[in-house]
Formats: sequence, C-alpha cells, structure tokens
Amino acid sequence: MRILAVGVATLDIVNRVEAYPQEDQEIRAVSQSRRRGGNACNSLTVLSRLGHSCSWAGMMADDEASRFILDQLHTAQIDTRWARVESGGTTPTSYITSSEASGSRTIVHYRQLSEFSQDAFAGIDLHGYDWVHFEGRNPPATLAMLKQLRQQPVALQVSIELEKPRPGLEQALPYVDVVMLSRAYSLANGIADARQLFDHISPMTRQVLCYLAWGDHGSWLLDRDGGVHFEQAVKPAKVVDTLGAGDVFNAGVIHGLLEWGNPLEALRYGNRIAGEKCGRHGL
Ligand code: FRU
Repeated sequence: MRILAVGVATLDIVNRVEAYPQEDQEIRAVSQSRRRGGNACNSLTVLSRLGHSCSWAGMMADDEASRFILDQLHTAQIDTRWARVESGGTTPTSYITSSEASGSRTIVHYRQLSEFSQDAFAGIDLHGYDWVHFEGRNPPATLAMLKQLRQQPVALQVSIELEKPRPGLEQALPYVDVVMLSRAYSLANGIADARQLFDHISPMTRQVLCYLAWGDHGSWLLDRDGGVHFEQAVKPAKVVDTLGAGDVFNAGVIHGLLEWGNPLEALRYGNRIAGEKCGRHGL
C-alpha cells in the first residue's frame, strides 16, 4: 500500500546511561548513537519494513545533519520527493538520555526550523496514496491541509496523531478517520483514564477510530460503535529502549487497518510490535 506521512525528521543524539542522573550530577554515558528520528519518520521506517511504499513530507534544513537524515531515509526506502528545504535552517535535534535501569527516555529537543506549510502540501499529488498520516503539529496549517485534502477526489484514509497538547489541533478531528492519542496528551489535559479521554475526544470527531497508547500499561481502542477495548502491554524480557515505541504502535495500527481492516486486530498488532520494540535498541 502507498502511505504518506507529514511530520518532522530529527537528529537524535542518544546517550545510554546506566541510570538517569540527578540534576547537576556529572556521569559517563555507556554508549552514544546518532539516529534519524521524528514521529512520522519513525512510523514510516516501520511501515516501509512491513512492505509498504512510503513517502515523507516535511521540512529539512541544508546542514550536515540534514544530509545524514536524507541518507537514512533513503536507506529505509522512504521517498522524500515532497520534502522542502529551508536554506540556512538548522536540523531539529533531540538530546536523549536513555536509562538502562528503567528503559525510560528523556528528551531535550531543540528546534529552529519552519513547519511544513499548507502551500507545500498543496503541491503533493495525492493520487495513488492509500493512507495519509499527520503527526499533528502546527494546528492552523494542519487544519488547512486536511480541508484541502478532503476537497480532492481521492479515496484514502487519514489519521492524525495527538501526541502533545497543541491548542486548536482538535479542530482537525472532524476531517480524519483515525486518531492516535498518547498518554502525554491525555495527562496534559488532566485526564488519567482512557474512557474519560475518549469521552472528551469523541464529541469532536465524526465516529472515528481512536487509539491510545499508555506506555507499559497497554493500549486502548474506541471503536465506531463506542465500544472500548484494552490490550495489556506486551513486555519484553528486559526493557532496554523505549524511544519511538509510540511511533511503532502507530505504524502497527496503520498496517493492521490497511492489511486486515479490523480495528481490534490493528490494536493487538500495534500493541505487540510496540512492546517488542522496547526490548531492543533502535527501531
Ligand atoms: C520519538 C521521537 C524522536 C524525536 C522526538 C521528537 O518518538 O520522534 O525520534 O527526537 O520524538 O519529539
């Protein structure tokens, strides 16, 4: 299937440490790695490995890190023809501390690059795509892109990720078929319970599928009839790296829906591969 994802590509500098340091402490990293990250790109990497034909739409800088990113995307067989370059821009960089003791990942993100615009999206030929996924960033631009997409004579499914609270992003919900929610989004809205989050979200949607990943607890699905389903997290023998687990979950859900068209199967598959991911380094 052909999948397009709109979002950011980042440079991730990952320091593995034995245990998370205290503030003002100085510690040594066990190892350091440089990876290409970003939610949409991480999900595409998994989808590409699952055999889909993937394209990424997003902003790139023209610095050394952006060449590394492009190279990594091409190695993962992700098409970058819709990417836009901001000359003089800086690649968004995440400084990540990954703790061996807990498997947690703490991210300090630096960003100095413009967001992918509606104009850039308008230049994308959507014919032939089966699925378009939005990382759910710049709210006004995302809304404009979705409205524009829905005016085109293309039969494709659309998903959006609400990972962080971004005021106004909920206005995009009536235009999508699938919503991917996160624990961070829920907690930022003062909600610590899946059903309550679904009750909060559903009035803003048009009977869509809502998925919610809640870290090591598990994940939930709100189906189109209002039914709520839960899957217990699949725990690897040892949690070694949780970076990007939510992105893997999203990829698993998209893959499941495209392959089997069964929302519950998609939940189970996303839940399983996200859990397995935590047992290994990288994606
Ligand atoms: C993981 C990730 C990293 C990136 C950060 C951006 O989900 O996409 O690859 O640095 O989140 O928020």
